[in-house]
Amino acid sequence: MDKEVDYSLCWLEYSKIDDEPYREKLSKVVKNIIAVGQDKFTQTAVEELKTAVTSLVGFEPEVSKEALCGDNPISGIIVGNVTDALIMKYISDDEIQKLDEEGYVIKSVKENPGLVVIGSKNGHGLVYGAFSFIKHIQLKRDVEEVHIIDNPKCKLRLLNHWDNMDGTVERGYAGRSIFFCDNKVTNSLGRIKDYARLLSSIGINGVVINNVNVNKNAIWLITPKYLGDLAKLADVFRQYGIKIYLSINFASPIYIGKLKTADPLDEDVIKWWKETAKTIYEYIPDFGGFLVKADSEFNPGPYKFGRDHADGANMLAEALAPYGGIVIWRCFVYNCTQDWRDTKTDRAKAAYDIFKPLDGKFAENVVLQVKYGPMDFQVREPVSPLFGGLERTNQLIELQITQEYTGQQIDLCYLATMWKEVLEFDTYAKGPESKVKYVVDGTLFNNKYSGFAGVSNVGSDKNWTGHWLAQANLYAFGMLAWDHSFTPEEIAREWCVRALTNDPFAVETIVSMLMRSWRVYEKYTAPLGIGWMVTPHTHYGPSVDGYEYSKWGTYHRADTKAIGIDRSVKSGTGFAGQYHRENAAMFESMETCPEELLLFFHRVPYDYVLKSGETLIQHIYNTHFEGAEEAEKLKEDWVKIKDYIRKDIYEDVLERFNRQIENAKEWRDVVNSYFYRKTGIPDKYGRKIY
Ligand code: GCU
Repeated sequence: MDKEVDYSLCWLEYSKIDDEPYREKLSKVVKNIIAVGQDKFTQTAVEELKTAVTSLVGFEPEVSKEALCGDNPISGIIVGNVTDALIMKYISDDEIQKLDEEGYVIKSVKENPGLVVIGSKNGHGLVYGAFSFIKHIQLKRDVEEVHIIDNPKCKLRLLNHWDNMDGTVERGYAGRSIFFCDNKVTNSLGRIKDYARLLSSIGINGVVINNVNVNKNAIWLITPKYLGDLAKLADVFRQYGIKIYLSINFASPIYIGKLKTADPLDEDVIKWWKETAKTIYEYIPDFGGFLVKADSEFNPGPYKFGRDHADGANMLAEALAPYGGIVIWRCFVYNCTQDWRDTKTDRAKAAYDIFKPLDGKFAENVVLQVKYGPMDFQVREPVSPLFGGLERTNQLIELQITQEYTGQQIDLCYLATMWKEVLEFDTYAKGPESKVKYVVDGTLFNNKYSGFAGVSNVGSDKNWTGHWLAQANLYAFGMLAWDHSFTPEEIAREWCVRALTNDPFAVETIVSMLMRSWRVYEKYTAPLGIGWMVTPHTHYGPSVDGYEYSKWGTYHRADTKAIGIDRSVKSGTGFAGQYHRENAAMFESMETCPEELLLFFHRVPYDYVLKSGETLIQHIYNTHFEGAEEAEKLKEDWVKIKDYIRKDIYEDVLERFNRQIENAKEWRDVVNSYFYRKTGIPDKYGRKIY
C-alpha cells in the first residue's frame, strides 16, 4: 500500500503466518486467484486477497481470468457473482436463496480439493467475502472445509465523524481529522483508502464525514465549493462498498441560499433543498444522505419556524428521495438552558416526550438516530425508552465509540460489553423477546431502514485510535453492527489475534483486561448510574459538582442525607413511566430497580442497605477503592505480556496505563472525600480518605 506517513494497518497488518503446516495447506488454495467478472468490486476483492496472501503466506498469488481456468479442476480461490456460470457450478440455488444483498458465501469444493469459491449477489458482498476469508486465514481456521453463508443483520452500519473543517475533531482523542485540514478536504487519499479498507473489513457501509454541529465552512460542504473534493473521497470509499453522508445545518437556505427563512414548509426553502440535492448527486451519484442535529444544543431546526421535527425531516427526505438518499434525524433534543432549581424538567424524558407523538409521521426515507441512553453516553445509563417506544419509525441506535465520558482513550474501556447489555435489553414492546437488537436490526417492527451509528474514535494518530487497545472498540462496533449475536469476548479475542499477538497467554491476558475494563472504569467514576461527575467541558477527570449548578440538566442532587433523582411515576419526574409496563414496574421501585441504575431512578439515603449488605455510602467507598486498585492490576497484567508485544506498542500502552492509574486515584480521592465531607460517615474499613 502506498503510505504517505507511517501508521498502523491495525487488524489488516498481516504478518507472516508462523505455523508452517498451516501455511503449507493454505499455500495450495491461495496460489491462484480466479477473478470472474471485471467490475470494480471484483477488482477490490482480488486486490485485497492478493495483498493479504502475499504477506500472510509469503508469495504473490497468480491472478487469472475466468477464460484461463476453463472447465478443468484447479485449485485456488474463485471470486465472482452468483449469477456467473462458473460460480453457479459450485454454489447451489439453496445457498443463493439464503443470500441478502450484501451477503456472501465462502465454500470449499468437496469434489475439488484446494478450490474455494467466494460468491455474492452484488459487488459489496464480494468485498465482504474477501475480507472474511482473509480473517479466516489470519485466525488459522480450516481452509479444506469451509462453508460460510453470511449476511449483515442490519442494513445501515454507519460511522459518524465529529470532524471539523479546521482539522480538529470534537471529542476526538486520536489526533487530527483524517478528512479535513485548514478548511479544506484532504487530498491524502492513500490514508483514506486504508481507512476504507479497515471499515469495509468490519462491514461498515456508510460514513458521515463531518461533525453534527455544522458551523462556518462546514455549512458549505453541500455546495460545489467542496463537492468536487468530496467526490474524490466518495470514489475511494465506493470501491469498498461505503457511501458518504454529510451533516447539514438546518438553516442552510438562509446562510447559503440567502433566503429569509429556513421554514420547512416554505416553497422557496423546499425548492432550495431540492436543487441542492440535485447538485450533490451530480457530483456523488451514490451519496448516502444527510445527518441532522436540529433544535439541539443551539443548532437551528424546525422549532425556530413553528414547525415540528417531522415537518423538518420530511421536507429534506423529499429532496433526497428521487436519488435514493436518506435523512438521519437525531433525537438528541432537550432543554439545554435549565435552571438547576427546576426539579420538574427532566432531561431524560425529553427525547421520548418529543418524538413519541411523532411516531408514524416520518417519511419512509427518514431514520431517527437515538442515543443508547436517555442522557448522553454516560458510563451507565438505562436504555432509551424510545427503543420499543417508536413502533412505526425507522431507527438507528447511536453508540459513542470515541470515549468522551469513558476515559478518552487514555483509560482502557472496552465498550462492547456495555453495548451488548444495551442490545440484549428487552423492551417488551411486543411482549417478551422484544430486545433492542431486534429493534435495530429492523425485524421487530419491520423497518425499511435501521441499524447502528457509531461516533468514531479515529484520528490521524499512527494507531488511528490514540490508545492501541481502543482499536478493539472500533472493531467491535463493526462486528456487532454486522451481527449482534457475536459475544464481546469472541470479538476481543479475534481483534487481539489479528492486530496484536497470537501468543495464547498474551491473548487470554488481553481479552481478560478488555472484558473487565468497562466495569473498572465505572467503579472509580460516578456511582450507580448517576453519571456526570466529570470536569465540565473536557469531560475527563472528576468534578463531582462540576455540572451541578449548570444549565445542562445533568444533576445528581447530592445533599447530606441522600443522592439521586427520583424518576418514578409515583413521586418523581415520571421518566420510569416511559417504558413498557414490565420495565416501568421494574424501574419504579427501589427494590426491583437494577442496582447499577439505582441512583438514576431513585433518590437514596446514604444508609440504604444494598443487596451486597453494604450501605450506599460504603458501596461508594468500596467501589472507588477497588476501581483504583483494579486499574493498577490492568497495568500489572500488561507488564506480564511485555515479551509478546511489539516494543513501541508496549511502551505506548504502558504510558496510557500510568496515566489511567493517576486518573483512577484522583477519581477515588475526589469522590470519596466529597461524600465523606457531605455525610460525615467514615469508611468502615478505615482506608485513607482525604
Ligand atoms: C455531547 C458532546 C457534544 C456533542 C453532543 C451531541 O453533548 O459533549 O460534543 O456535540 O453530545 O451528541 O450532539
